[in-house]
Amino acid sequence: MSINILAIESSCDDTAASVIVNGEIKSNIVANQSVHSLYGGVVPEVASREHQINIVPTIDTALRNAGIDKKELDAIAVVSGPGLMGSLIVGVTFAKTLSLTLDIPLIEINHHQAHAMALFIDEPKPKFPLLAMTVSGGHTQISIMHDYNDIEVIGRTLDDAAGEAFDKTGKLLGLDYPAGPIIDKYSAMGKVVYEFPEPKVKGLDFSFSGLKTAILYFVQRNKKDNPDFVKENIYDICASVQDRIVSILINKLVKASKHAGINEVAIAGGVSANTGLRKALVSKGKELGWNTYIPKFEYCTDNAAMVAITAHYKYKQNLFADLSLKPKPRYAL
Ligand code: KG4
Ligand code: ZN
Repeated sequence: MSINILAIESSCDDTAASVIVNGEIKSNIVANQSVHSLYGGVVPEVASREHQINIVPTIDTALRNAGIDKKELDAIAVVSGPGLMGSLIVGVTFAKTLSLTLDIPLIEINHHQAHAMALFIDEPKPKFPLLAMTVSGGHTQISIMHDYNDIEVIGRTLDDAAGEAFDKTGKLLGLDYPAGPIIDKYSAMGKVVYEFPEPKVKGLDFSFSGLKTAILYFVQRNKKDNPDFVKENIYDICASVQDRIVSILINKLVKASKHAGINEVAIAGGVSANTGLRKALVSKGKELGWNTYIPKFEYCTDNAAMVAITAHYKYKQNLFADLSLKPKPRYAL
């Protein structure tokens, strides 16, 4: 008998749905909300309204592309947090309604866990224990995955997430939101010529707020002499910023690998789409004898395939929720 699951993700500004059959992704649909770039960041109220518009067509398309009728579903999975309350409510309410009307179980998914679980969609699959660094717009953490549903967080950000470091720096440089992919693109056209400080944070935690301030002062100082400084040097500035963010991340990962004695090392989350970070992981892995893993590009930024794969393994362990499920904006792992 096959296991058919529909997964829904609506925690931030993307409405996403995916269908998984026996652990194999059959469809992966994401409706992006480009409207937020007008405001330089995600506007929660606007995100919630867009989810309401997008959720039905997104789910319909995911089912149609998978060739699965909703009557053939065995479970509905939904991200209940962390995320924006108004955004989560849309996905959670929809999932509960489907679970009730189709009389099939509901599976609750944590967004952080789903990002890490994206590593188990394609081959080769990592082995446990796995050291996974999840880096996105909302979170930055290093975890030891002992099993699919047994995750120990050993390091986290004390302030901004890695994606925020990209996005907020980009804003200071006059780039559109989200700036991460733009900084990535511009870095390829520039050289690392400016040195930004590496924060001194003990242990396996991260901090990015000092870097943001250093870049703010750097921009102010240089604009005094030349108002067009940023515009004229944008590629080199981006390459330098990216190089520093990547080195902060990789240095902590090296420390964590030594601390945990684990050579199965992975990155996941929106920032793992970054070219510089992907290259740095591979080259550090070669140097230190790690087996390294990075999800396919479309499984790095927010998507529902990562929710679907998490749901598959929860289904197999009978980890179900009930209709009392509520959105958890601060749902920690
Ligand atoms: O995982 P994600 O889609 O959403 C959250 O859970 O937050 O991550 C979005 C973040 C944004 O901060 C975006 O700027 C960053 O991932 N991002 C990138 C790249 N692609 C997305 N950052 C650097 N380089 C990229 N290529
Ligand atoms: Zn995410």
